Amino acid sequence: MNIAVIGAGYVGLTTAACLAEIGHGVVCADIDASKISQLNSGGIPFYEPHLLELVQKNRRSGLLRFTDRTEEAISNGSAIFICVGTPPLQNGEADMTFIERAARTICNEADSSRLVIEKSTVPVQTGRQLQKYFEIYRSRSSFRHDVVSNPEFLREGSAVEDFFHPDRIVVGCESEEAAKRMREIYRPLLDGTCLCPVHRSRHEGVPPPLVLTDINSAELIKHAANSFLAMKISFINMIADLCEAADADVEKVAQGLGLDRRIGPSFLRPGIGFGGFCFPKDLQAFVTIAAKFGCDFSLLKEVEQINLNRVERFVNRVKDELWVLRGKRIGVWGLSFKPETDDIRFAPALSIIRRFQQEGAEIQAYDPQAMTKAGSELHNVRFCENPYEAAAGAEALLALTEWKEFQEVDLSRVRSLMARPLLVDGRNMFCPEDIIARGFEYIGVGRRPLVRELTA
Ligand code: UDX
Repeated sequence: MNIAVIGAGYVGLTTAACLAEIGHGVVCADIDASKISQLNSGGIPFYEPHLLELVQKNRRSGLLRFTDRTEEAISNGSAIFICVGTPPLQNGEADMTFIERAARTICNEADSSRLVIEKSTVPVQTGRQLQKYFEIYRSRSSFRHDVVSNPEFLREGSAVEDFFHPDRIVVGCESEEAAKRMREIYRPLLDGTCLCPVHRSRHEGVPPPLVLTDINSAELIKHAANSFLAMKISFINMIADLCEAADADVEKVAQGLGLDRRIGPSFLRPGIGFGGFCFPKDLQAFVTIAAKFGCDFSLLKEVEQINLNRVERFVNRVKDELWVLRGKRIGVWGLSFKPETDDIRFAPALSIIRRFQQEGAEIQAYDPQAMTKAGSELHNVRFCENPYEAAAGAEALLALTEWKEFQEVDLSRVRSLMARPLLVDGRNMFCPEDIIARGFEYIGVGRRPLVRELTA
């Protein structure tokens, strides 16, 4: 099938490359001409494992093309995926400007009926709004643009893998014809015949279920999923606070909790909180949406507040240990909001760095991928070539993103470089006993601190 993808961001570019990989002809458009120029020169505008190879392979095969003219993509595709941003407005609502702009271009440019697929995370009843919009602005009354909700559940850092191994494919539509065409688009995944480019294997076992719903329900599934995942994280962080006060170990509590098959172990990792462009904004949007329908989602406001409190708690914990932060050299490992991405949007690490700078500390930082993007957001931070340089001369080393690289460093060398061998583990990525055995002091989250005590 010929497909148009509007938006070449984290979701749009991954969706376009993966749809081409399963055999569709895809034209991907973005209004950012520099992004399109980079894509047409063989690069990609952000780091995402396996995506560069997938884009290059499908560009070479001719199945994937890029343009900065949205109308060119629309004229190519009988199915149009809308993958544009829905950033938060000041009042927490999702900004629908880019969605409306895409809809307007479809009305002006489509020379026949189109299947219009919402991939972006949108407030419930957006699909209904789009259907009304198309009936008003379509260029011919004979055109019928069918709207479908097809939310994505891609995680940054594993987006390609998540596309080929989804837990489910959700499709919200109002006609059997639309459902039939969505089945056609995802057939290689639904019948398990496609080869996953990450594992170079076909889908083992049972292919993913297709969840066929009405549009409103599909739109709600996305917001509900992200909010529930964020709630699990804030829940374990709330428990971590109690563990610190009650002299317990949150990692053991999380293990005991997660073994309950009704709860599950995932998303129970305590730390400095969730970041990224999805959880923070989707939580705010969901609370606002619910309020518009007269529903009280205060629970999610607490989820957000618990998350925001992580930064202050972490800074104060270090301050308690270092006494005075002014003039102290602090090393930082990790800037991205999670490993395997260069994305720093809503990253707790940046908020923590800004707070230490407010206290007068001097920051030297290293991240395997995110320093370029972080350099445009942070000021007076010394960016280092490697983890050792970031530790040299530091009175404390803050481990803020659990990149695998940090768990492979030579800790004895790190200890010899530091002014004070204090490791503050914002993601509980290290084993305290190993750290202590190397001569460090150790502070984790929800764990017993192992620091030098005053001699009696
Ligand atoms: C999320 C959803 O997982 C995905 O389904 C949706 O499509 C987009 O939003 P993403 O934000 O890319 O994906 O990353 P995710 O792995 O969910 O992590 C989000 C944040 O939560 C990160 O900052 C991560 O460090 C944090 N996190 C995650 C925790 O603090 N503890 C955990 O146990 C898991």
